[in-house]
Amino acid sequence: MNWPSHGANPIKLYKEMSAEQPASVVDFSVNTNPLGSPDGLRSHLEKSLEKIHNYPDPDSERLHQRLAKQHEVTQNQVLVGNGASEMIYLLAQLWQGQRVGIVQPTFSEYQKACDAYGCKIYPIMLEEEHQFDLNPSNYRPFLDLIDVLFLCHPNNPTGAVYKPHILQDLIRQCKEKEVVVVIDEAFYDFVADVPFYSPHVIENSNVILLRSLTKMFAIPGLRLGYAVGEPSLIKRMKMYQPTWSVNSFAEEAGLYCLGKSRFQQQTAEAISVEKRSLFTKLKELGYRPITTQTNYFLMKDPFHEDTKAMIGFLLRRGVIVRHTYNFLSLEGRFVRVAIKRREENERLLSALQRWRFLCSP
Ligand SMILES: Cc1ncc(COP(=O)(O)O)c(C=O)c1O
Repeated sequence: MNWPSHGANPIKLYKEMSAEQPASVVDFSVNTNPLGSPDGLRSHLEKSLEKIHNYPDPDSERLHQRLAKQHEVTQNQVLVGNGASEMIYLLAQLWQGQRVGIVQPTFSEYQKACDAYGCKIYPIMLEEEHQFDLNPSNYRPFLDLIDVLFLCHPNNPTGAVYKPHILQDLIRQCKEKEVVVVIDEAFYDFVADVPFYSPHVIENSNVILLRSLTKMFAIPGLRLGYAVGEPSLIKRMKMYQPTWSVNSFAEEAGLYCLGKSRFQQQTAEAISVEKRSLFTKLKELGYRPITTQTNYFLMKDPFHEDTKAMIGFLLRRGVIVRHTYNFLSLEGRFVRVAIKRREENERLLSALQRWRFLCSP
């Protein structure tokens, strides 16, 4: 079976599973904002159509200014790019051939990018019996062996947010050992009331923060993300970045969306309400969803160690979940499910109820 390496790829999934795609599907493998983009974004972009006849600003000056202000850093501490993914590849290029720690299980692009640049990779495994939480015993043994460490926070796919004092310990220990810590906060704004880590960037020269506008503002097709870090690191990343990486629409969308804090807050609240209701019902049906702080979660069916049959069953009912066959140590024992709007979540529950009824002992 050739599983697609990311979610949001229903055509490939149906083909691989030899299943016919129903007329209507809900794709729970997509973990962008279920409420969509902020009001007015589309018409704002339509008005910007003229811009396709000119090159975009190669320095994305207005966006850099805005982000520097938002993070209370100087402009030379920010680099915007073609999605957080571009930042990951620039970083892997910067550390090519060197030693990289990746806190696993996690987003597969860190490994892919580091492999592409010939890095030696040290997986730092989190354990299921500890709900994939981060502890010093996980990372301390590796700090003498690596030059840079990738940490996804909140983590994809587990949805875990780590304790602030543990993160501080990690950053401090890494600083002592001259290890750079890349903290990917692509999903930070789905978490209500959690202090996030821009301050560490200012205080610690060994931290690089990654952010994406893809998830919260539901703009995966536009491609916009950025890094915040120490000026000399940012300068080296920029050296490798192709000119005009950020297109005119991405820049306009960024300027339009950044600072929409009310929209972000409403989203986080809506998700937390849905999460509560979904988790209660899933547990009633005998499933095991893993505690999450964000807009997706891992789930197990205790009656089936492997999820392939369940994924196929759901697909035929127009419900797509994210397989976990390409996440280290998960290897298909879980599915990842995005939290969506009420009526979509109901459809998931009804398909899962049917699976429970037909396919459980
Ligand atoms: C943790 C994480 N970081 C980064 C990305 C990529 O973000 P972008 O769309 O900005 O490239 C993803 C996409 O799924 C992700 O899950």
